[in-house]
Order: sequence, then C-alpha cells, then structure tokens
Amino acid sequence: MPKLSVKEKLILRPKKEKSSFKNVELSDIEKIVLIEEDCHISPWSKTNFLDSISAGNLFQVLKDDELIIGYYIASFAADECELLNITVKKHFHRQGFGKIIISHLVKNCLGRKVSNLFLEVRRSNKNAILLYEKKGFNEVGIRPNYYKTSNGNEDAILMAFSF
Ligand SMILES: CC(C)(COP(=O)(O)OP(=O)(O)OC[C@H]1O[C@@H](n2cnc3c(N)ncnc32)[C@H](O)[C@@H]1OP(=O)(O)O)[C@@H](O)C(=O)NCCC(=O)NCCS
Repeated sequence: MPKLSVKEKLILRPKKEKSSFKNVELSDIEKIVLIEEDCHISPWSKTNFLDSISAGNLFQVLKDDELIIGYYIASFAADECELLNITVKKHFHRQGFGKIIISHLVKNCLGRKVSNLFLEVRRSNKNAILLYEKKGFNEVGIRPNYYKTSNGNEDAILMAFSF
C-alpha cells in the first residue's frame, strides 16, 4: 500500500461534505495509477487512462482539496452508459465514498437521458457487488470465465441499473 502523505495523515477520514467531483487533470494520472495498482487485480495502466481521456469518456475524480479519494470512468453511446472503472483509495474504503460515486454517475446519466446503465464485475468481488445492489443495480447476465485470476479464470457478472 502506498505511504500516506502528511495531508493524508492529517485527514485520514476525508469529509464527505468537503469532497467534490472534478474532471480529471493530466497531473492526477500518476497518483491515480498508484491507487489503481493498489486496488485492482488487473489494474489499468497509465496508457489505459490516457486512452480513456482521448476517447472522450467521462472521467471524474472525487477530491478533498487536492487529495484524491476515488474516481470513476464511464462511456456513453446513444442512450447507453457503461461504467468502465470505479475505484476508492484503499485507506478510504467503507466510508460511503463508493455510494457517493455511484450516485454521481446516476445523476449524470439522468442529465444525459440515459436509459441503460451497465457494468461488469468479477464474481469474487463481493464488496463491489454489494455496493451495486445497494445502489439499485441488478444482475442481468454472466460472461463465463471472462476475467483472468492467479489460478485460472472467473465469471464476469453483468449488472444493469434500474432507472
Ligand atoms: C468497490 C469499492 C468502489 C467500494 O467503495 P467504498 O467506498 O468502500 O464503498 P462504500 O463505503 O460506499 O460501501 C457501500 C456498500 O458496499 C458494501 N461494501 C463495500 N465494502 C465492503 C466491505 N469491505 N465489506 C462488506 N461490504 C462492503 C456494503 O454494503 C456498503 O454499504 P454499508 O457500508 O452501508 O454496509 C471499493 O471497495 C474499491 O475501490 N474496490 C477496489 C476497486 C474495485 O473493485 N472496483 C470495482 C470494480 S467492478
């Protein structure tokens, strides 16, 4: 796990009311890559993040001042949206930030008249699945053996938000 900066030590519990979403900046990417590597089995690379910016995806960063709490990336096409990445920095897990991120995404979808919001999640990622169910997603399909694991493959669960 990356070391905490002085600011992070001072505000180990970033305040929800002080946190806000910002469009990603190129200067955020190095920090985001470290958070990503700390949080995911198959982390996105710096190139993946830069490609996502070039593709024009929605890339929002949840910050308390300059401190990155988490981020999400979503792609939009016609009336569909796909959540491509959602991550909360490990030190700040289980403090409600995941729920805040999903609410922000859903608000964005409503503003863009999206009627279908999808995501894919590893079957073993119980914490994420609980978060999605809590926020109104339902399982709508399975992609068998879609993801690689250290000792084989695992299913992707396809989930959709009920507007
Ligand atoms: C999934 C993730 C975004 C959740 O973020 P978070 O800020 O910890 O989530 P929240 O604090 O808002 O929790 C929301 C709900 O999810 C469930 N949940 C999340 N973490 C949990 C845990 N460690 N144990 C049990 N339930 C958990 C709970 O139902 C929780 O609600 P509750 O606190 O009222 O019980 C975060 O764990 C993460 O970044 N994981 C690594 C990256 C990842 O797996 N992304 C998803 C890829 S599809």
